[in-house]
Amino acid sequence: MVESVGSHFEEYFGKQAEAVIQSPGRINIIGEHTDYNDGYVLPAAIDRYIYVAASKNDDNKARLNAVDLGEDHVTEFNSIERTDRSWVNLINGILSQLSNRIGGVDLVFGGDIPLGAGVSSSAAICCGVATAISELYNLNLSKWDIAKIAQKSEHEFALVQCGIMDQFACMFGLTNHVLLLNCLTLEYEESEVELHGNRLLLINSKVEHSLGDSDYNRRKEESEEAIEALKKLDDKISSYQDVTAAHLEEVREKLDPILWKRAFHIVTENERVHEMRFALKSKKQDQVGELLNKSHHSLKEYYEVTCEETDFLVDELNKQGTVHGARQLGGGFGGCVLALVKDADVYQVLKQVEIAYKKSFNIKLDNIPVKISKGCHRIY
Ligand code: GLA
Repeated sequence: MVESVGSHFEEYFGKQAEAVIQSPGRINIIGEHTDYNDGYVLPAAIDRYIYVAASKNDDNKARLNAVDLGEDHVTEFNSIERTDRSWVNLINGILSQLSNRIGGVDLVFGGDIPLGAGVSSSAAICCGVATAISELYNLNLSKWDIAKIAQKSEHEFALVQCGIMDQFACMFGLTNHVLLLNCLTLEYEESEVELHGNRLLLINSKVEHSLGDSDYNRRKEESEEAIEALKKLDDKISSYQDVTAAHLEEVREKLDPILWKRAFHIVTENERVHEMRFALKSKKQDQVGELLNKSHHSLKEYYEVTCEETDFLVDELNKQGTVHGARQLGGGFGGCVLALVKDADVYQVLKQVEIAYKKSFNIKLDNIPVKISKGCHRIY
């Protein structure tokens, strides 16, 4: 993959790339829709990547090429705007923040992160492009600088009001480690994952989502309304981290029922992140599975971001005796399901679930083998 992006750059621009960046996708073990609610998340970078090959130019423009899509675009630095193509928007969002510090850039990108599958292809593109520019022009941007520039691009150019989880995981990922991030303080902790004869399976429902068009932004507004209402009821509350499930039960009648459901998901999901960290550390695979199932149930019933296909997959996976648990991953409304399965039974489980899914939805499942991998970095 990396060779093909590099050689495509040579063919397209007739010169060698000065820098090549490897930028990973991510999984999230648990902590969904908690990042933009000042909560906790437990993601990890995976060995699916976007590669960015780039060189400087002096033309005050970016010449861009998306290998996998066979598309190109030129962005003039004196008019960086939104377009009708989502990949251009992601890159223009980065250029709008960095163009006044650079002369120009020639850039090719491509990779093997499935798009719209909830494994964060957009953060990988944004972080990869920002890292490439920082490397080419010695801007010395820190990992946090790049994560925040990438997030701002999503907000302003992709129009997705996302949290910081994806960009954080992409930049800070560490081989075989999950990262516990407190999204309020941005403190984080790395812990090694040992699954003892089990494997994390990533199954793509092939229901593609584009968060810009989905209810993602609506959920963010609802969560904000809910926390404002909770603050009014109790002045000791300043963020979701001050709210417990018990407290929510007490004020149930005083909150709009939809807002209550959204808050209930966020608060219980934060609790599950801590329980998951403990279950992983103490190697309790059954508890890990149970927490995955509880998270999915909450995403389905309280946050209402799952869909028929991912609900079906989680149910079907749980019918297989050797699956510990499963849940929908990422922004929602489709995408991938993450399951913890006994190593020896992976093939059998996949076969059964594939047959059932094909029968019900006439869609062929995609199994995406993943390993927990290193964050975004320059390869050469
Ligand atoms: C998307 C967003 C993240 C996060 C997840 C849901 O991946 O980009 O910031 O909100 O959805 O947990």
